[in-house]
Amino acid sequence: MKFQFQGKLVGAQPGDTIAAALYRNGQRVFSRSFKYHRPRGLLCVSGNCPNCLMNVDGVPNVRTCIRPVREGMKVKGQNAYPSLETDFLSIAERFDWLMPVGWYYKTLTHPAMWHAAEPMIRKVAGLGEILPSGPTEYEHAWMHADTVVIGGGWAGMQAAWSAAERGEQVILIDDQVALGGQLRYRKRMGPISDDVMARMQAAKNVRILQNSYCFGLYEGNLLGVLERDPHADASERLIHLRAGHTVVATGAYETPLLFLNNDLVGVMLSSGVLRLLHLYGVAAGQRAVIVGPSAETAEVCAELRGGDIEVVTVVEPDAVVRAIGSGKVNGIQTRTGDFSCDLIVVCGPRVPDSGVIAQAGGKIEWSDAHGAFVPTVLPPHASAVGDAAGEAVANPAVPLPAGKRAFVCLCSDVSSTDLCDAIAEGFDQIETLKRYTTATMGPCQGRMCQLSSIGICARETSRSIGETGMTTSRPPNPGVTLGALAGPKHHPIRRTPMHYAHQNLGVVWMDMGDWQRPRYYTNHSAASETERVLHEYRAVREAAGLIDVSTLGKLDVRGADSGKLLDLVYTHRFSELRPGRVRYALMCDPGGIILDDGTISRINEDRYFVTTTSGNLDFVQQWLEWYLGGTNWDVHITNVTAGYGAMNLAGPKSRDILSKLTDCDLNSSNFSYMACREASVNGIPAILLRIGFVGETGWEMHCPAESAEELWQAILAAGYEFGVRPFGVEAQRLLRLEKRHVIVGVDTDALTNPYDADMGWAVKLDKNDFVGKALLSHAAKDQSRERLVGFVLQAPGVPEDGAAVVVNGQPAGRVTSSRYSPAQMAGVGLAWVKTSQAQEGTFIDVHMNGGLVKAKVTMRPFYDPEGVRLRQ
Ligand code: FES
Repeated sequence: MKFQFQGKLVGAQPGDTIAAALYRNGQRVFSRSFKYHRPRGLLCVSGNCPNCLMNVDGVPNVRTCIRPVREGMKVKGQNAYPSLETDFLSIAERFDWLMPVGWYYKTLTHPAMWHAAEPMIRKVAGLGEILPSGPTEYEHAWMHADTVVIGGGWAGMQAAWSAAERGEQVILIDDQVALGGQLRYRKRMGPISDDVMARMQAAKNVRILQNSYCFGLYEGNLLGVLERDPHADASERLIHLRAGHTVVATGAYETPLLFLNNDLVGVMLSSGVLRLLHLYGVAAGQRAVIVGPSAETAEVCAELRGGDIEVVTVVEPDAVVRAIGSGKVNGIQTRTGDFSCDLIVVCGPRVPDSGVIAQAGGKIEWSDAHGAFVPTVLPPHASAVGDAAGEAVANPAVPLPAGKRAFVCLCSDVSSTDLCDAIAEGFDQIETLKRYTTATMGPCQGRMCQLSSIGICARETSRSIGETGMTTSRPPNPGVTLGALAGPKHHPIRRTPMHYAHQNLGVVWMDMGDWQRPRYYTNHSAASETERVLHEYRAVREAAGLIDVSTLGKLDVRGADSGKLLDLVYTHRFSELRPGRVRYALMCDPGGIILDDGTISRINEDRYFVTTTSGNLDFVQQWLEWYLGGTNWDVHITNVTAGYGAMNLAGPKSRDILSKLTDCDLNSSNFSYMACREASVNGIPAILLRIGFVGETGWEMHCPAESAEELWQAILAAGYEFGVRPFGVEAQRLLRLEKRHVIVGVDTDALTNPYDADMGWAVKLDKNDFVGKALLSHAAKDQSRERLVGFVLQAPGVPEDGAAVVVNGQPAGRVTSSRYSPAQMAGVGLAWVKTSQAQEGTFIDVHMNGGLVKAKVTMRPFYDPEGVRLRQ
């Protein structure tokens, strides 16, 4: 097999990982460190450290020590220029005195300094680069099993086999390419039982997911599993795995020792050296010095000698002064003398790999007996076995250097002196120490450095390790690629009943959730988006426009207690709404935060027609059913979204057009604003709502989906003489913005309550209890929060959505929506500002085109503020 490394062909043997093949071919530098660009070589050879990250076939940060070679793959080093061996940016280490821990918090304190430094920091920061040619095939799969075992070592295999013998369906997840765990490379522990292995592989009720790892254990025993190279057409598969019971058999991983130059190329963990030797037949060096407690070193010493590696000497950890060498190991200095060698084999403390237990709510505590953090309380439906439970872990105390720079966090180049400095500055709690120094926050997520960081923190603060505690483990750990989370490229789309009618008109689509909606119509012309949108806008304001609103969620709510339920779940009052009337509906969570909005029409005494935003239908339905549960109320909720097509005809000529198609009296005296009727339009039964999102006289019509296109075409034909035009979402957004109507999720966020959004009028605090009432009662009196206001720009141009609002040079809010308003002949928008700025006529500064532009605050609509036109 051959693959490319830095553009050159490299040979590999069957079963090789990329790193093993490269090492056999003489490669020793595998990466450059994050901050100082120090050369780094293989350390753990098990996927637990950051030292072998490379770009493989366009995917950055691939751990090459566990990625099998594939014929023809392209591998490149990263974070180094021009090469891994010669990296100009390693000059950074000469200036490390300029970059003490937390240096940018201390030095870049003025916004101007930060702005000047930011582009350069962004350029050199980060690991790896996404190449445009990367593979993009990812899959999602769903599985379930009675018992899921995480870990394919001896303990995991035994647990899986016991469950299988009980007749359970078992899934065994193993992050290696073959079962056996450390039995595969610690030869002196004895051979793997072929019998057990064969029976496992043959058992019909055992499924083995090789080359896969669990990155999270979530509520309800849902495991996130990432399978690498599941088959030729996919590079990764994300499995949603539901388990009756989870057995954590993830073993323990070895961690480095701290001494001067402990990160030189050629300093390796003993488990890494043995894996290279026994799994790939590669000797990590010729002359080795072994460092570790005597109980651990004897076995390693024997294994190395058996593998033709000369063992120069064995040294206790507290006798080591430093590794000698520049870039790579040439020897070791100890208290008893210097020794020449090309390999330092470190037998470091072993850490039970129990992060998944902590993530799921279990407790991990320090045990003096184990010299490690071990699980003491397990989450429901989970157990731990083997080294993950601490069974065979007994670490002696290891020395931690004082006053000497040893690298603790290899991911972020955080040294022992950095940690001591940070603690002296007051960051003496393990959680704040982590965030200030970034130790444990890199690609290895603390695997290599957490124990040492805690040890140093404990020593410097005169606390025990148990009192110091550990940082919180959160999924995903290990990390997951964004591609795998996003899933396959195919994306289900929903089309409205008028989809092909839009297509025939010439349309630019936009995605809204699963739906495809016309952004604007091109009419097969070459005009720009701005021109087309303005055309559609004018049609609505001056004649009539027709928009497809079939994507609105639609619920048919029936039964004698329907009003009671809607009163409970929405903030307005609906039990007293008269049949034939429509009301704006706002839904909040128990904290008073806006969740969704829409309209509720009372069709008759026992029937309501509820519309929701396009993306929230399922949620709203579940929310209603949740609050209905256990009440015994007479309410039936039916999702009729797919059964109805919907369109909105709006504009001064809309009554003239619709009158040609229906006998229903459309005059305001009979069919007033916010009324609803069931009527026949062009012979098609429809529910007509007289509402006005865009600020003009108009009707929203809901009719059977199979007849929706026919009705759409009939309205366009009837309106031809009046100048009717179809309009898309972009024109609708401009029209609604001129009316200062809020779009939930665009102008609101996860902290917005109706009072902040200037929609307190939609909350009826005087009705009986409803969802969110308690906190909304407080919010009604609290004037200290931000407010959503309208603004009119005092200079040409339009700020971008999301632009900052600045007051006295300080960020004081943000723009949520902005457009050029033909009605105001200026840029207008909605923005969150401090309450003190939320006054009619106040001026604010809005960030635009790299500068600040004055804007005038208004609390009134930008167009037809009295609402005369939509009531006509
Ligand atoms: S050497 Fe590959 S992850 Fe440690």
